[in-house]
Amino acid sequence: MIIKGTAYVKGEYENCYIGIEEKNIDFVKKSLKTTEEVKKFDGVILPAGTDLHVHFRDPGMTKKEDFHTGSMSAACGGITTVMDMPNTDPPTNTYGRLKEKIKIGENKSVIDFGLYGLLSEEIEDMKELTDFFKVYMAPSTSAERLEEAELMGLLQKAGSLGAKVAFHCEDENFFEEDSFEDLSEFNKSRPLESELNCIDKLDDLPCEEKYICHLTTRESLERVDDLGYIGEATPHHLFLSTDAFLGPYGKVNPPLRSHMKQYELWEDFERGRLDIVASDHAPHLEKEKEEIKQAPSGVPGVETMYPLLLNEVARGRVSISNVIDMVALNPAKRLGLKKGKIEEGYRSDLIQIEFRDNEPIDSDKLHYKCGWTPFEGFQGIFPKKVLSKGEVIVEDKQFVGEKGEGEYLKKNNI
Ligand code: DOR
Ligand code: ZN
Ligand code: ZN
Repeated sequence: MIIKGTAYVKGEYENCYIGIEEKNIDFVKKSLKTTEEVKKFDGVILPAGTDLHVHFRDPGMTKKEDFHTGSMSAACGGITTVMDMPNTDPPTNTYGRLKEKIKIGENKSVIDFGLYGLLSEEIEDMKELTDFFKVYMAPSTSAERLEEAELMGLLQKAGSLGAKVAFHCEDENFFEEDSFEDLSEFNKSRPLESELNCIDKLDDLPCEEKYICHLTTRESLERVDDLGYIGEATPHHLFLSTDAFLGPYGKVNPPLRSHMKQYELWEDFERGRLDIVASDHAPHLEKEKEEIKQAPSGVPGVETMYPLLLNEVARGRVSISNVIDMVALNPAKRLGLKKGKIEEGYRSDLIQIEFRDNEPIDSDKLHYKCGWTPFEGFQGIFPKKVLSKGEVIVEDKQFVGEKGEGEYLKKNNI
């Protein structure tokens, strides 16, 4: 297939021809003489995104989401690769359970996927199937904290095996749980000190490369940067604050921070201080989210992440290069994938958008099983077309791909 259009190539927009051979980009040329059919794409062609942090709830919590609905949502939001978290039921903490989840993904996923194992005694066996592991430093939704001594031992093992560990960083010694009656009190009950203190504690942990999930403030980013860790931020911490009138729907761990902190996060985003934006797509049912004390923490976000960020580019708040780096290139690099660039030899995972095509986000149009979004009414720019491995899987904003097309990103073979 040959595409003609305006594409984001090597840091700028270029009118070009993109040749696609099987799954990969065969060439990017400014001019071309050919007798082959050339497909003209309007608007702008960008690399598709990779989301390193989703909870697709499969197995065990498939009333909230499953690998089919989750991956379809990702695709319609311009994401063609996801990494799924291990706090499912049962948790993904053994070789057998990882195998089982790989099968689920292979049967249901419409896009390529990788899996995190939950750091456990079985790390050595699990390491045959994945390099990526998750550690909860504090209890969170469907996740327990490991005891200090056990954690040290396991991280030592992880280090010697060359595993890549992602941390949920909160220190529960700073929690004031149970003392909240509304969202604003809940947010205060898991204060910033808890996050900062936990980041500081990581210094003592034996682990080579540290990836810190969902950083909520400039202070957290600075520490992570100083210590040479990889920092992730989420769309909800970028677009929502304690001022959002979301009630229990805005309950998330770590919690939303003040509007001022949110503003600083954007400044750091534009300075390129962040490494990765990932959705932490954590859907729960509306009926579970009605009452603040009972409500599980987490908000959905995989379908709206890239569209929200592209709208910020259209508004002139952030640059396209930063968005592409944080949503497409850096996350793909972390997985060792040749994705996130429109260049010869890279995977032909692309999206086509129009910068004037912003629309209010409407939960009725999203593909989540949970049926709601904390970003209702926010402006987003959704891709008209999405190509995954050279195949069109979204056409005119409608999903046209197939269940089971997604492949597991095998170790050393991605
Ligand atoms: O808010 C959250 N929800 N934080 C987490 O750490 C887990 C997640 C979930 O799985 O619902
Ligand atoms: Zn987390
Ligand atoms: Zn998460």
